[in-house]
Amino acid sequence: MEKKIALSGVKPTGAPHLGNYFGAMKQFVELQNDYEFYAMIADYHALNFIQNAEEMQKNILGVLLDYLAIGLDPRKVTIFKQSDVPEHTELAWIFDTITTVPYLKRSHAFKDAEAKNKEINVGTFNYPMLMAADILLYDTDIVPVGSDQKQHVEYARDTAEKFNRLYGKTFKIPEPMILKDVATVPGTDGQKMSKSYGNTIPLFAEPEEIKKYVMGIVTDSVASIPKNVFAIHALLRPDKELRFLYHAKAGKYKELKEMLIEDLEKFIAPMREQRKALARDIPGALGILKEGGEKAKRVAERKMAEIRKKIGVSL
Ligand code: AMP
Ligand code: TRP
Repeated sequence: MEKKIALSGVKPTGAPHLGNYFGAMKQFVELQNDYEFYAMIADYHALNFIQNAEEMQKNILGVLLDYLAIGLDPRKVTIFKQSDVPEHTELAWIFDTITTVPYLKRSHAFKDAEAKNKEINVGTFNYPMLMAADILLYDTDIVPVGSDQKQHVEYARDTAEKFNRLYGKTFKIPEPMILKDVATVPGTDGQKMSKSYGNTIPLFAEPEEIKKYVMGIVTDSVASIPKNVFAIHALLRPDKELRFLYHAKAGKYKELKEMLIEDLEKFIAPMREQRKALARDIPGALGILKEGGEKAKRVAERKMAEIRKKIGVSL
């Protein structure tokens, strides 16, 4: 039987944190055996935030090493960067022409930016159309993401349906895949873990950093259980076991934090060391990216030829 297709992406905007891993990237590793998996580095999406060539290059290489270090196997997964497949931006333009401004204005990301009185750029406004192109070019069945990306996948679904209505069946309708238990990973202050809130714990943190971040967790407590410490700890140990431990040590915040530091170090160390090993062979990693880009491009080119025919620009 043919494997179903899964695709996801991470923006190269800096070091990934536990929220990225437990909300999305961990699923990538689990899916790679059963799906034809495309792991994209969303550099053109990141261009809305990173407008410095050196930083962009560093971050792209960073996500590539992250993907490999968490255990994505390039023999199974197509690891590629968005900008290596210009069909993404081409299709995003076509989608722009069938999408209305009021519809895009309903996006949470747009509304958030507006509420902050930010003068947002057109790239941020169009963000969902580029993401729809990412997904739809590969006849993707499922999109593993954190819950904050649910609406973006809905934009892709709506756009596929609209195009299909206008031009005839062309695109598969993708489904989001969101892990229920960890839909939103909380940060050190209890809010959603996010770079923009400064409440993250980096996925590849060094032992000293782990200590610093855990000691910084805000210890609001419910019945002598520090809930923010517990919530992060729950990523690493079964709920029942953890409840037992936290009740046994109720009120002993320092001891509980020390336990979390130990568990995090055990969990992070192998991936962190693997990443360091990979970083010693940058040409090897770049070779993987090049090969993935070529493979993705072959698939995208075929789809784009079909799309161009459908809209009547190929004679
Ligand atoms: P980004 O770095 O914004 O490209 O995000 C990469 C992936 O991580 C996306 O699928 C997000 O939904 C997911 N993600 C980011 N922060 C969190 C969080 N706090 N909880 C769960 N998933 C998250
Ligand atoms: N928008 C996603 C994020 O911010 C990243 C992304 C870009 C993506 N293109 C994608 C995710 C396609 C899934 C599928 O996390």
